[in-house]
Amino acid sequence: MQESTPEERKILYESLERCIARGKFLDRFYELFIESSQEVRDKFKNTDLEKQKHTLKVSFYLLFMAGEGNKEGLAHLDQISKRHSKSQLDIAPHLYWLWRDCLIRAVSECDPGFNANVEQAWLKFANFGIDYLVDRYYASE
Ligand code: HEM
Repeated sequence: MQESTPEERKILYESLERCIARGKFLDRFYELFIESSQEVRDKFKNTDLEKQKHTLKVSFYLLFMAGEGNKEGLAHLDQISKRHSKSQLDIAPHLYWLWRDCLIRAVSECDPGFNANVEQAWLKFANFGIDYLVDRYYASE
């Protein structure tokens, strides 16, 4: 997959900051994601969603760092790929497309600067994480 350009990384980071600053971004993302399918609801039935929102926020920053080749970020990506794999949480590949749709929708609602370039930057970012996790879905069987 094509790597993000420095300009796309800047656009992404500024959008992420605008979303986080508004406070409702992670709430809206999980609201959309949980509504999106019964399968997703089942996966999160025992999850403390307030904790999970915080975890995902931190994860966004670490994934952003991973996209720049940062060691700590890459180690995080590796750790979550194991956790989401078939032998642990068993997050099947099709669920990631729902995840991505809900993410883009939450950004579009929460970022007042949302436009086609912002959307493109988020799509590349999401695809980078998703490709990594999906590639390793069967890896730890
Ligand atoms: C690139 C996309 C995703 C990222 C960055 C991500 C990130 C994370 C992180 C950081 C954790 C915490 C890991 C830990 O506790 O060690 C987590 C847990 C989890 N994720 Fe994801 N996730 C993604 C996609 C998905 C998808 C598509 C699903 C489908 C339902 C999902 C379901 C879960 C569940 C069920 C947990 C465990 C929650 C708990 O501890 O109860 N994730 N995810």
